[in-house]
Amino acid sequence: MRIVSGIQPTSQLHIGNYLGAIKQWIPLQEKNECVFFVADLHALTIPYDPEKLQQAIKETVIAYIAAGLDPEKSIIFVQSQVKEHAELGWLLNTICPIGELQRMTQYKDKSKKFKENINAGLLDYPVLQAADVLLYKGEAVPVGKDQEQHVELIRSLAKKFNQKFASPASSLGGGGGITFKEPASLILKEGGKIMSLTDPKKKMSKSDDPKSCIFLFDSPEDITKKIMSAETDSGKEVRYNITKKPGISNLLTIYSLLTGKTTQQIEKEFTGKGYGEFKKSLAEVTVQYLEPFRRKQKELATREVYLQEILRKGAGRALTIAQETMKEVKQKMGLS
Ligand code: TYM
Repeated sequence: MRIVSGIQPTSQLHIGNYLGAIKQWIPLQEKNECVFFVADLHALTIPYDPEKLQQAIKETVIAYIAAGLDPEKSIIFVQSQVKEHAELGWLLNTICPIGELQRMTQYKDKSKKFKENINAGLLDYPVLQAADVLLYKGEAVPVGKDQEQHVELIRSLAKKFNQKFASPASSLGGGGGITFKEPASLILKEGGKIMSLTDPKKKMSKSDDPKSCIFLFDSPEDITKKIMSAETDSGKEVRYNITKKPGISNLLTIYSLLTGKTTQQIEKEFTGKGYGEFKKSLAEVTVQYLEPFRRKQKELATREVYLQEILRKGAGRALTIAQETMKEVKQKMGLS
């Protein structure tokens, strides 16, 4: 299968990005053709500092590799280095009903959050995301739950394109038949939506207060501090109950995903012990889990040439596939 996914270099990556997306990517590399990129063009749709963008891109690539992506197995590159993303994005714009974009939850949320900067890119964001996946004829998109609606739109645009431009009577040289497969979203039942540490009713988000997120490269002290002060619920019992105990349930989910134990096993382990003891143990588990990530990050931060080489090769491999798709798309659309 061809797998495609990406992350915006809008801040450091947090444990929600890892547990919802990257953790799925690692085993997928073994038996699939995987395309993982840094979505820098998407990151331009919210306020950002151009002087810091290159560093943020580099840190995202480092996070990918430190978390276990293997550049020998996966195609890793920066989105803006393969111009076909923007080109296909434009072409798909011409078949995307504007109403579909206006009803996107993320567009509505972000236009509330960034009232001063509701740019056309923010609305058009999911079309570029469709181009990211369809350019490689992606069949599955491993993401967190917040991206489900965007992947639905990708499927709908793939279908529309196929219907509109692949009629059996096609005399365009590209032949009839189906251009794009409709990609499935791969969303984990556990981990697909990790909640904020300071407000467990909201998802953990890069653009919120740093105290609400555990970043992948946080120091052991910061991890411990954040977990110990995470918002918990009234009562003392460590029990999974998403409606009555959203705070503890979120911490239990993280504990479970990092240790491989079920929430029931963890509840049993902490029977008769309070929230404090549970949080202390979660802090230790998290610090230990992320320790190799921090080590790898330090090592990679000094290997500029190696990173550049990974991105150069990745962009080259991506371009080969992208150009082939664009040739077919342009023929079908009457552009060549
Ligand atoms: P982004 O950069 O917001 O997030 C990256 C990935 O992390 C997931 N995620 C979470 N998962 C669980 N719990 C959370 N609290 C949490 N927060 C974020 C996201 O679902 C995502 O998988 N539009 C995308 C980037 C993108 C993309 C693509 C993804 C651009 N083109 C093509 C897939 C395919 C985004 O904003 O992700």
